[in-house]
Amino acid sequence: NKYAVITIDGPTASGKGTVAHRVAKHLGFHYLDSGALYRLTALMAQRKNISLDDEASIAVLARALPCRFVHGHVMLEDDDVTDDVRAEAIGVAASRIAVLPEVRKALVDLQLSFRNAPGLVADGRDMGSVIFPDASLKIFLTASAEARASRRYKQLIEKGISANMEDLVKDLMERDARDSTRAAAPLKPASGAIILDTSEITAEQAVNQVLEWYAEAQ
Ligand code: C5P
Repeated sequence: NKYAVITIDGPTASGKGTVAHRVAKHLGFHYLDSGALYRLTALMAQRKNISLDDEASIAVLARALPCRFVHGHVMLEDDDVTDDVRAEAIGVAASRIAVLPEVRKALVDLQLSFRNAPGLVADGRDMGSVIFPDASLKIFLTASAEARASRRYKQLIEKGISANMEDLVKDLMERDARDSTRAAAPLKPASGAIILDTSEITAEQAVNQVLEWYAEAQ
């Protein structure tokens, strides 16, 4: 499969989702939010009362995840879970099951299936390093912990969800630590990735920078 892929990896709340989504829209490419797959798996495990340490059972769920992405909505079986999957608690649960190698393996084919004509923008932690190592352009998006926490805070407040800055910074640091130190596909820049720090730039500037690099890579 030789369709173009742009990978955008980085830590929690670095702005990957916003940037990846806008770049995809601009180029008319498909978009893969790989974090949503880990979140959906965690949500499903919770609903089925499966312990987050039960690697084998969670891998079974992940391998046949009954999810669909329809016009920006995330569906699990027949439920619209768009808001449920974004909850902080589900993000934390997702990062716990994401350390399990069998679960990561179970999600590989689903992720690869998003690579369709004319191309794909994929965001996550291991898009450039593990899932699409042959990507045309690999970006590692970062931002300071403060910038990330305050963005996440704003997002939650805008959605009418109450949030506490101190808790957010704590969650974020814990999640970063878990994502970076795990043995399976730890969060780190893929070989050949360009690092883009978004602490001091707007989402629009980040999008334009990625588009410029993509044009240069052609
Ligand atoms: O990006 P998002 O916050 O939605 O991801 C939720 C969790 O899923 C992350 O904290 C990470 O542990 C895990 N994840 C992963 N690999 C990916 C995407 C997400 O391990 N490619």
